[in-house]
Amino acid sequence: MPTSKSNRAQTLRSLVQLLVNTSEVVIKEWEAEEQHPQPDDHLASSLPSHQLFEARRIIVAACGMCVDLVEDPRIRLQELSETFALSQAFDTTVRAGVPDILAEAMPRSGSVSAAELSQRTGIDEKKLVRLMRFLCSGGLYEEVKYLDFANTRMSGALAGNPPAQAFQLIYGTKAVIEPLAYLPETLLDPKMTSATSATESAFQKAFKTKQTLWDFVEGGDDSDEVVREIRQLFPLSMAGQTQLSSRSIVADFPWGSLGEATIVDVGGGVGSMCTELAKVFPNLQFVVQDLAAAIEQAKSYWKAEDPKALGTGRVELMVHDFFKEQPVKGAAVYLLRCVLHDWPDDDCVKILTRLREAMAPDSRILIAEMIIHPPLGSTQLKSAPAPLPANYGRASLMKGMHDIVMLSSLNGSERTPEQFVDIASRAGLRTEKIWECRSPVSITELRL
Ligand SMILES: C[S@@+](CC[C@H](N)C(=O)[O-])C[C@H]1O[C@@H](n2cnc3c(N)ncnc32)[C@H](O)[C@@H]1O
Repeated sequence: MPTSKSNRAQTLRSLVQLLVNTSEVVIKEWEAEEQHPQPDDHLASSLPSHQLFEARRIIVAACGMCVDLVEDPRIRLQELSETFALSQAFDTTVRAGVPDILAEAMPRSGSVSAAELSQRTGIDEKKLVRLMRFLCSGGLYEEVKYLDFANTRMSGALAGNPPAQAFQLIYGTKAVIEPLAYLPETLLDPKMTSATSATESAFQKAFKTKQTLWDFVEGGDDSDEVVREIRQLFPLSMAGQTQLSSRSIVADFPWGSLGEATIVDVGGGVGSMCTELAKVFPNLQFVVQDLAAAIEQAKSYWKAEDPKALGTGRVELMVHDFFKEQPVKGAAVYLLRCVLHDWPDDDCVKILTRLREAMAPDSRILIAEMIIHPPLGSTQLKSAPAPLPANYGRASLMKGMHDIVMLSSLNGSERTPEQFVDIASRAGLRTEKIWECRSPVSITELRL
């Protein structure tokens, strides 16, 4: 970030020029979309063209840099320290069903009065108005007439979409926010600062437990609010995560070239990634592996989503602990989607080693996960145009946030390309290629 006034002026001019040029790309894309409208399902809308994806991240990065250049730093810092108020206020309205109520009103009147919203949510009207007006400033709702509110694109994306709502709410649960509150205390504690185990993170400080988050939830009781919230939201929130990234994972890797391959979805949850692949690639076969509770939920999930796949044996649901010997030998693909980020490096090396032992010479491991892009860039990832930081600055912020959630809850980590190379080589594997996808999640391919 330039410091002298003349450098700042030059940077501001370049950013504005970049915004003008890039906006034209977006506008052309919108015009093309109007000619060929996409079906309005939550997944389709999340796959932009390559040009639109690139233009979006340039615009987000440029706008962020413009704000940092021109705003009084003390205001930015004050906003930062109170950001939690924004997410909690929004979560309150989502829990109360506001996006759905506003969406329902769309065809009738286009908006809902504060009085009706208060009556339907049970939130005191004056307090609700304060929340809604605050959230309007954050772009999350719109006050279209005096004290009459409507969804914006953002809150509208949650309307009628329980998986996206669960994904939104899971980051406001006590299991996530309490460890974040204990992060400074944990990292400044000389005894804990270098700890790498999932049993020595801020989570243990916050909940005065020796268990990992997973064991705490698995062994816990539904009468405990922390456990209950996670149990209720987690499976559905993973389907919400699927909406965010699965179309690009399906489109940006050549699954079609695998023919009649078997995909083993290791730690696959209910297998929501596989249902997406199954829709597009009729020759692929699937094994979804997870712990017993998740596989139990997977049975009803597949019955609802793709009942034929269970009947024909196209999908096998298997209880398997990924720290134990991998029972499916020589599969074409072992998929790990959003699994390794839950674990410290040494555990990742163990998980990858169990897979390496089962691989045939042409097997591959596909890690579908966020990849941290350092501010100065990485030789393995595309860099942003100047004067933006090589990692697209503000457009990378979400990945960093996720990394810190993983750190505080599990001593887990989102990883840079170099960190993936390191854990892969410690497990006796090599990194073949990074497939950059049009979503926050990309694919890192490992081979023997
Ligand atoms: C963040 S979720 C990702 C789920 C799935 N891959 C997806 O993307 O929807 C991590 C998964 O790892 C599973 N898991 C945790 N420990 C495991 C273990 N030891 N063996 C197998 N699965 C495990 C959890 O049950 C959970 O479903």
